[in-house]
Amino acid sequence: MKITKAVIPVAGKGTRFLPATKQVPKEMLPILKRPMVDYVVEEAVLSGMNEIVFVISTGKESILDYFDRNLELEQYLNKNGKEELAQKVYEIGTKIEVISVRQKEQLGLGHAIACAESAIGNENFAVILGDDIVVGDNPVSSQLAKASAAFNNKSVIGVMEIDKNLTNKYGIVDGVKVDEYPSSFKMNSMVEKPAPEDAPTNLATPGRYILTPEIFKCLKEIPRGVGGEYQLTDAINMLAKEDNVYAHIFEGDRYDTGTIEGYLKATVDFALKNEETKEVMKKILKEVGK
Ligand code: UTP
Repeated sequence: MKITKAVIPVAGKGTRFLPATKQVPKEMLPILKRPMVDYVVEEAVLSGMNEIVFVISTGKESILDYFDRNLELEQYLNKNGKEELAQKVYEIGTKIEVISVRQKEQLGLGHAIACAESAIGNENFAVILGDDIVVGDNPVSSQLAKASAAFNNKSVIGVMEIDKNLTNKYGIVDGVKVDEYPSSFKMNSMVEKPAPEDAPTNLATPGRYILTPEIFKCLKEIPRGVGGEYQLTDAINMLAKEDNVYAHIFEGDRYDTGTIEGYLKATVDFALKNEETKEVMKKILKEVGK
């Protein structure tokens, strides 16, 4: 089954980046010259998912505008001999169909995904968090979609192996290794932020999922969970009781750009990998290292 739709929830309040996020969506904060959500959309497109369902809230409209055309700016750049830049600006939204749904109250990630039901219908779909970037040769949502196809189109949760001491920062998968497909597990359950001594594995879930539409029924049935929010983890646990759910260790470098540490790390790493900025970043690092 080819998966063409990706849900990107971007309706959160972004409190860790206040006061910037008083007016600018966190997902629009730039890493080098591109907003972080642009990297996330690029992953979806490279994974063959061209229908992007943004879950937005009041004040997040600039994300939709970013993926629309800005004819005035294109004309200005063309008139002023900046044709290459004009082309770059033109191309931004051309590879995707933008669908937007509203989350009227920020009641958690599970609630945000539930808001996308009418846009998804009865198809499998990807969820890619709007403030979480994974880079590598092989786009991570594509890796998960392939694993899902190998598992009879069942749900697959993207996981990464972490230091056992850090399990209290993540959702951790409890599962049993399977032979049918590499680096994969049949999931028993997901445990939210367990202490290292209670953690069933070191497989953390940073925010990449392939889900079957049955998840929507679970999202409607779950009660409010941790922090009074509707947790996607709770709905996946419910789904895992009714159907096979798998976890797959993906390849790639992951940056939690929703935190200051992850944001700074992505900025430095991306600048060091970029031809235009790598020398200047090396120079800065050398100077501040003194
Ligand atoms: P986060 O918990 O990292 O985002 O959710 P947040 O709530 O905006 O951040 P802080 O804690 O206040 O700083 C991960 C992703 O899920 C979206 C966010 O926009 C983010 O991209 N999200 C979260 C929603 O769309 N709706 C919600 O109710 C919660």
